Amino acid sequence: MIVALTPNLSLDRTMTLDRPLLPGQLHRVTGLTVAAGGKGVNLARAVRVFGGASCVAGVVGGFNGQHFRALLSAEGLMGVLEDGEGETRECQALLSGDSHPTEINEAGPPYQSEVMARLLTRVPEGQVVVCGSLAPGTPRAAFLDMLRGLDRPVVDSSGAGLEAAVEAGASLIKPNEHELEGLTGSGTLDSACELYRRSGIQVLLTRGERGAALIGEEVWEVEAPQVEIRNPVGSGDTLLGTFLWARQDGQSVPDALRLAVAAGSANAMLGGPLKFRAEVARELVAQTRLLTPV
Ligand SMILES: Nc1ncnc2c1ncn2[C@@H]1O[C@H](COP(=O)(O)OP(=O)(O)OP(=O)(O)O)[C@@H](O)[C@H]1O
Ligand SMILES: [Mg+2]
Repeated sequence: MIVALTPNLSLDRTMTLDRPLLPGQLHRVTGLTVAAGGKGVNLARAVRVFGGASCVAGVVGGFNGQHFRALLSAEGLMGVLEDGEGETRECQALLSGDSHPTEINEAGPPYQSEVMARLLTRVPEGQVVVCGSLAPGTPRAAFLDMLRGLDRPVVDSSGAGLEAAVEAGASLIKPNEHELEGLTGSGTLDSACELYRRSGIQVLLTRGERGAALIGEEVWEVEAPQVEIRNPVGSGDTLLGTFLWARQDGQSVPDALRLAVAAGSANAMLGGPLKFRAEVARELVAQTRLLTPV
């Protein structure tokens, strides 16, 4: 079981606009998708697409929270959800033929310590992955305690969440280059190697169209296939879910990394986590390139 513990769940609304985005102008929506969202939901989807067992753990609230529950179960995804105060946030992605979607994300309800404490007693046994941003106002000490209590989880977060993961001792972190730069001042492979040397935390560094690298005792680099992109949002989540599933499934690190990079690219090519398909990822593996361990 891969448990995507997602402190700040969302309702994701993806709108396709009739023309490129122009600030201050009227745009008409030509397509709308509403889905349960948050990085952990994307990750749990990817695991499920490969036939693995996954679950989303988090706090929901208000009408949006009810909507979230309904959408999650309509997709057949397992949720361990605790009711909290406030409305589950909404995150809007605007697709308008530009190279990257415009994203507008609400902050979400404030951190609620008792609700989180209840949720943590219900987290199922398995590989816990802490996904995405923290709820607003999360005390640093509380988040560190949570990470320590989870006993070296995998963490895919940024900013304060990523810093705390390093301090608390995650087993693996998955920054993109920008997130790694925010943490160490540089988004390079060298910087990820230095981070591993001083922390003992494995780094799965994703580099968009250039692929990904896993930095641990050995360093594995995989180049991504060249694909035409529809929507790259969630590619990192799909990559991480695929990597963890493949490792649980018994695949070697290089095989799991190649499949994961292919899955990230398939996600971007097909149009995001709701469109992601395992057979497309498997087909793209042949177009990935594994570089010799450094
Ligand atoms: N333009 C692209 N062409 C091919 N593959 C891509 C492209 N963009 C992303 N990918 C694939 O997706 C993986 C993850 O991408 P990226 O590093 O952008 O993740 P991310 O920023 O964490 O994304 P998110 O947080 O939205 O899930 C890459 O390692 C690569 O395999
Ligand atoms: Mg990411």
